[in-house]
Amino acid sequence: MRGTRVEIRNAALAHNAGRARLLAAGAEVFAMVKANGYGHGLLNAAMAMSAQVDGFGVALLEEARQLRDAGIGASILVAEGFFDLAELQEARQLSLDVVVHSPWQVALLLDNPGPVRIWLKLNTGMNRLGLRPAIALQAAEQLAAAGMKPVGVMTHFACADDEQDSRTSRQLMLAQEVADALGLPLSAANSAALIRYPASHGRRVRPGIMLYGSSPFTWKSAAELGLQVSHRFSARLIAINDIQPGESVGYGATWTAAEVGRVGVVAVGYGDGYPRHAPSGTPAAINGEPTALVGRVSMDMLTIDLNGIEAHVGDEVELWGDVVDVDAVAQACGTISYELFCQITSRPERIIV
Ligand SMILES: Cc1ncc(COP(=O)(O)O)c(C=O)c1O
Repeated sequence: MRGTRVEIRNAALAHNAGRARLLAAGAEVFAMVKANGYGHGLLNAAMAMSAQVDGFGVALLEEARQLRDAGIGASILVAEGFFDLAELQEARQLSLDVVVHSPWQVALLLDNPGPVRIWLKLNTGMNRLGLRPAIALQAAEQLAAAGMKPVGVMTHFACADDEQDSRTSRQLMLAQEVADALGLPLSAANSAALIRYPASHGRRVRPGIMLYGSSPFTWKSAAELGLQVSHRFSARLIAINDIQPGESVGYGATWTAAEVGRVGVVAVGYGDGYPRHAPSGTPAAINGEPTALVGRVSMDMLTIDLNGIEAHVGDEVELWGDVVDVDAVAQACGTISYELFCQITSRPERIIV
């Protein structure tokens, strides 16, 4: 048995959702479970957190449908709304909260009036999805006149996780102005804003990454935020090689030994979703002892430094989890934990505890 596995910890998901609830201080908590629950399993993540949250956030109608098919009756916010008329009609049937972010969606609604729960999305500076405030005010009026008054206003922050952030307060002010003008509740906060900007909570907060045991901030760890590890990625050592000074390891010979040493070969690679671009020095741990990658990650294997470490074939190597902070791996790879969680392939065994 190869032994490459992802352990998903449902008690940690519930704990982290409880942290979000506490921080939300009375605002509705909508757990973002899009993209397969950030790699934790869409249904699994939703079920594990259901007692702690008021509803769920997904990106796509298909994701919402999967939750409804599994019998989840809680409110579901579809962050990209409907993609066409068929989806609008299905959103109505499934009683979903749909985000309306573009003029073409407003036009489709006006051509096809009928009851639907609309969260009008504002572009307050992210310049991705959303209507500019003046357009949003106009759209809200048109929709209300057609019997489809939006139930809320939402926006998304571009820089709430940035240590030097100076943009969120302006985004919040713009969103609040529109919400007030329309007399509607506001939903704006992602994990970073939920933790950092209580003034942004509004009616409904939408945490994602913090629920999955990762910090939205580079300067504060998940443990410091009181979050528990919910995703542990591990594999086994399948070979141990002695290495001489001047010898290199792996494709491209990108790492060369400076001294006599030992290198461990681990049964995990980019075919499992471990990032190929993880450089030498990326943290890992063997038998609980910290070490680091040496040489390039290949499809089915990677190599770690075993100098001064007692290790045997068959021993367990942690790629991230309890000893190795997923955020440290992400930082070494120039990415974010979101991507690491999402890109694990179907090959590793998944164990839900
Ligand atoms: C619309 C929306 N709200 C909330 C979130 C949650 O963000 P985070 O995972 O940073 O908490 C996301 C995630 O990207 C999102 O797209």
